Amino acid sequence: MSTPELIDPYQRKVSYLRVSVTDRCDFRCYYCMAEEMTFLPKKELLTLEELDRMCSTFVDMGVTKLRITGGEPLVRKGIMTFFQSMSRHLKSGALKELTLTTNGSQLSRFAKPLYECGVRRINISIDTLNAKKFGEITKRGDFKKVMDGIDAADKAGLKIKLNAVALKGTNDDELHDMVEWAGKRGFDLTWIEVMPMGDMGEADRLSQYWPLSDIRKQLNDRWTVENIPLNTGGPATYVRIKETGGRVGFITPLTHNFCESCNRVRLDCQGQLHMCLGQEDDADMRKVLRDNPGDNQPLRDAINTAIARKPKGHDFDYSRQQIQGEMRRHMSHTGG
Ligand code: GTP
Ligand code: 5AD
Ligand code: SF4
Repeated sequence: MSTPELIDPYQRKVSYLRVSVTDRCDFRCYYCMAEEMTFLPKKELLTLEELDRMCSTFVDMGVTKLRITGGEPLVRKGIMTFFQSMSRHLKSGALKELTLTTNGSQLSRFAKPLYECGVRRINISIDTLNAKKFGEITKRGDFKKVMDGIDAADKAGLKIKLNAVALKGTNDDELHDMVEWAGKRGFDLTWIEVMPMGDMGEADRLSQYWPLSDIRKQLNDRWTVENIPLNTGGPATYVRIKETGGRVGFITPLTHNFCESCNRVRLDCQGQLHMCLGQEDDADMRKVLRDNPGDNQPLRDAINTAIARKPKGHDFDYSRQQIQGEMRRHMSHTGG
């Protein structure tokens, strides 16, 4: 018997699954990863076939939006086979959106094939337009390669949203340049408050933290800012900049808690289901999947049991000048 909808204890409909397909990345953004990372051995990861079975079960249970993340999803070997396979759910109408969040480094190669698999919108992470700074933030990222990737995505017809993590002392001097550039190119630009994920020192986190309320204020000083009611299914709220026509979004896990409208769960690259990005609780879906080859009912039952445990929200809080609600896992593990 098919369950058409996944509803959590707070009556929120879970229709959005984010799937991290690898913990690996070709960059080492300092707020996301340590410079020397130990990555998981291959057998720990869900295989592409297991990812397919897992995602297809969620789609069958009412998920209509699938976002592929990482690490960097496009460095996973064979990932295009997975996208091709998922496109069958777009064709059937069960899935409304198949998309990904990427650092852009592989897009010159993959933008066109992604479009051919039915991807129409992608999120690309870029925190600066300054090549030298880009090198410092990402440690090993190649700025030109990312810019070429953005061009390739644009040319392939993919709608682009840029994600910038707001970092005081790093990119706060580029706010207006980035707004102008994104606006001219027709890209949405979303600013994200830095979240306490991974094992970075507390002093660093606090000194980096640039509250988005301040960004809004600075935008108002320079541009004509119009509030708009856009909702892309994610946690961002948006404004329109009249002069460029571009949209600027804000993801504010610290200053404004958006958990009451949460519609998502996350599957990490080891097959653990995280009901909330900001809570430690998870459910082992890989075990259920591997213990029951050829029978999806136990997996469906496990998904239902997990959703019934979805918490009300996260507890990130910097307001007492110390970090509360910090998470041990790195963002690259759960995919943001
Ligand atoms: P769309 O609105 O579909 O474009 O996507 P999105 O904003 O959900 O996806 P994206 O991958 O661009 O998310 C950007 C970042 O927002 C994530 O990497 C996280 O850092 C943050 N984020 C997304 N969802 C949540 C959430 O449920 N809780 C918290 N605390 N942060 C989130
Ligand atoms: N806080 C906020 N955003 C983060 N990202 C990675 N680590 C953090 C963090 N600690 C962002 C990336 C990317 C998205 C997947 O998550 O820049 O845009
Ligand atoms: Fe890689 Fe994204 Fe983490 Fe940067 S933020 S290290 S690009 S996963």
